[in-house]
Amino acid sequence: MPTFPTLEGAPVDGRRVLVRVDFNVPVKAGVVGDDTRIRKSLPTILELLERGATLVLCSHLGRPKGVQDDARMGPVAERLAQLLGREVRYAPTDGPGSAEQQAFVADAPAGSVTLLENTRFDSREKANDPALATILAGYGDVYVNDAFGAAHRAHATTEGVARLLPSCAGRLLERELAVLGGLLEAPKRPFVVVLGGAKVSDKLDVITRLLEVADKVLIGGAMAFTFVKARGGHIGDSLVEDDKLDLALTLIAKAEERRVDLLLPSDAVCAREISGDAATSIHPIDVIPPGERGLDIGPRTVAAFEAALSDAATVLWNGPMGVFEVPPFDAGTRAIAQCVAASDALSVVGGGDSVAAVTAMGLADEIDHISTGGGASLELLEGRTLPGVAALGSVAWP
Ligand code: 3PG
Repeated sequence: MPTFPTLEGAPVDGRRVLVRVDFNVPVKAGVVGDDTRIRKSLPTILELLERGATLVLCSHLGRPKGVQDDARMGPVAERLAQLLGREVRYAPTDGPGSAEQQAFVADAPAGSVTLLENTRFDSREKANDPALATILAGYGDVYVNDAFGAAHRAHATTEGVARLLPSCAGRLLERELAVLGGLLEAPKRPFVVVLGGAKVSDKLDVITRLLEVADKVLIGGAMAFTFVKARGGHIGDSLVEDDKLDLALTLIAKAEERRVDLLLPSDAVCAREISGDAATSIHPIDVIPPGERGLDIGPRTVAAFEAALSDAATVLWNGPMGVFEVPPFDAGTRAIAQCVAASDALSVVGGGDSVAAVTAMGLADEIDHISTGGGASLELLEGRTLPGVAALGSVAWP
């Protein structure tokens, strides 16, 4: 794992600190839904406030095309203020770097918390434009990056400013890198990985990397059908990536060569359509009749996966086992969530859907580490360097 500076011993006390957070949370009708990402940034915010800093927080929200009223940070500022129990300064502006924003930041009293407008309202953010980074760097004496979820993006607020200000990782980023990076370096064994989701193509690099460190890899979700078809199975009308069949065979061969137990589902809950009212039937995974689609792992698979997880010392779970947002096709995902939560192993859950399942089931407290990163956690587990992390420490502390 690359070394990076942290808040430990960093001279942030009493300074103006520009903090990049990942407050990219669901907002509906002006109200924040799942606020996990905001909560997870509280340790860094509270520590900086205790150390007498004045905070200027910034984050993107969604993928707006220019300034969009439904992507403003107002609801996030409100939720953060509730969680902190103190005022959060926020003004709807045209975006990062605008003259009105610069004036608003310049007026920030000592010890205050300001949340900037959505950083993506300005196209220069994603372009990592040096002119924008220079304006933003003027908002703080130092820069703290706590946005693990956006650390795989080389944007002005994640990478550009780190090249201009003395910088370090916040507590959330530090923990994410330690836990996820630790899985690749020295996991306690047996190390069992459960992967799901729709597409092999999304997880190809991460499976390849994890086959080098894991003892068992359990594959569920629609992506399992690409492996099953590659081995000659009949998968009916299930989702498949026909252009990835060869790659699936390569991964199966790699698992054999490395003596990693690669477990595919043995049965599937099937239906003719994705609907809560659809008639369901259970079929062996490789003899699904035409017209039927596998929409969840079946009971024999659940039992086999539970058995494979029973002796784990480390568990990593990323991706749902079926169409979990449409019951009854949520049963497999729920069973895995319960099993991971009940396990004595070090448990790590990443990926929006698995995290949503664990949270909705009230099991979040039973998991040792819930990652706030989707794409970022996959890129880290692929063994890639994250630009937002690599840039930290570029400028010497005064
Ligand atoms: C995420 O939700 O994964 C992060 O906030 C990054 O968002 P992005 O994929 O739009 O860059």
